[in-house]
Amino acid sequence: MSSLRFRCYKKGDEVKIVELLNLAFEDWGSVERWTTKYMLSPGFDPNLIHLSEENERLVGCLHSLKRDVRIGRNILTGFLGSEGATLPNYRGRGVYYQLFLRLYKEEKKRNGIVHYGFMHPMLYKTFYGGKLGEIALCQPQAFLKVLNPDKVAQPLVSVANRIIGKKLRTILGKNEAYSIRIEVNRTQAINLTITRSGIQLHDKLTTRDATIRTDANTFIKTTLRPSNLITAFIFRKMRIQASLGTLVKLFRLAVRILW
Ligand SMILES: CC(C)(COP(=O)(O)OP(=O)(O)OC[C@H]1O[C@@H](n2cnc3c(N)ncnc32)[C@H](O)[C@@H]1OP(=O)(O)O)[C@@H](O)C(=O)NCCC(=O)NCCS
Repeated sequence: MSSLRFRCYKKGDEVKIVELLNLAFEDWGSVERWTTKYMLSPGFDPNLIHLSEENERLVGCLHSLKRDVRIGRNILTGFLGSEGATLPNYRGRGVYYQLFLRLYKEEKKRNGIVHYGFMHPMLYKTFYGGKLGEIALCQPQAFLKVLNPDKVAQPLVSVANRIIGKKLRTILGKNEAYSIRIEVNRTQAINLTITRSGIQLHDKLTTRDATIRTDANTFIKTTLRPSNLITAFIFRKMRIQASLGTLVKLFRLAVRILW
C-alpha cells in the first residue's frame, strides 16, 4: 500500500519546497524568492499550496495564487496555478495528478470560477488537456479549468448581447431563431439561442442548428473583446459544423448585423 500522504503548507515547509523546486527546475532560487512570491503575496493562503510526502520526505508540491480574471465587464474569481514538481524517483505514480485534484477542490471551496496557468506544453495533450480537462488558450500555452460553468457562461452571454444589441430586433424575423453551441472543452459547452428578444442561454440545446467550436485564441479574444466574436466568425477562426443552409443563414445574419 502506498505510504504517500497529502496535505497543505504549514510554516517551515518552505525550505523543503525550495529544495524540491531547485532539483526540478535547476536553479529555481532561494527561500527569500519563495517567501516574496507566496508568503508576502496579498491574500496568501496556505491551503493553496499542496504537498505530498512519504515518511516526512517532501516528494511533490503544487502552488496557486488567487488572481481574478476579467471577462468583458465581469471579474471572475480566478486562481493562477504556479510552480509544481514531483521528486524524480516518485514520478509516474500520479502524485502531480492528486495534487491538482486537491487544489481544484480548495479553489472551488473559495468560490473559484476558473483556474488557469502557464504550463509545460509537452504535458498538454495527455495531462492538462487530457486528464485534467483544461483548455489551451494561446501560445505560449496557458491553461484554464472551468470550475463553475454557469458563472463563465453568463458573462459570455452579456458579451454576446452587447455585440448584437438593438439591431437584432430589426434583423431577425418574428419566429426566427439561431441556436449556437460554443464548445469550451470536451465536456463543457455553452448553448445560446439568438431570437428577436435577445440571446438566451440554455443548459441543453433543443434545436441544434449549428456548432461553433472556438479555437483557443478566439476564445480568449472573444471573452475580452466583443467585436472579435464576429471578426473570428467571418475570418473563419471558428470551426463551424452545420448544414450548408444553416451556414448561409448564419453568414447572412452576421453580414446584416455588421452593415
Ligand atoms: C511534470 C511532473 C510534475 C509530473 O509529475 P508526476 O507526479 O510524475 O505526474 P503524474 O504521475 O501525476 O502524471 C500525470 C500525467 O502527466 C503526464 N506526464 C507525466 N510526465 C510526463 C512526461 N515526462 N511527458 C509527457 N507526459 C507526462 C501523463 O499523462 C501522466 O498521466 P499517466 O501516468 O496516467 O499517463 C514531473 O515530471 C516534474 O516534476 N517535472 C519537472 C518540473 C515540471 O516540469 N513541472 C511542471 C511544470 S508545468
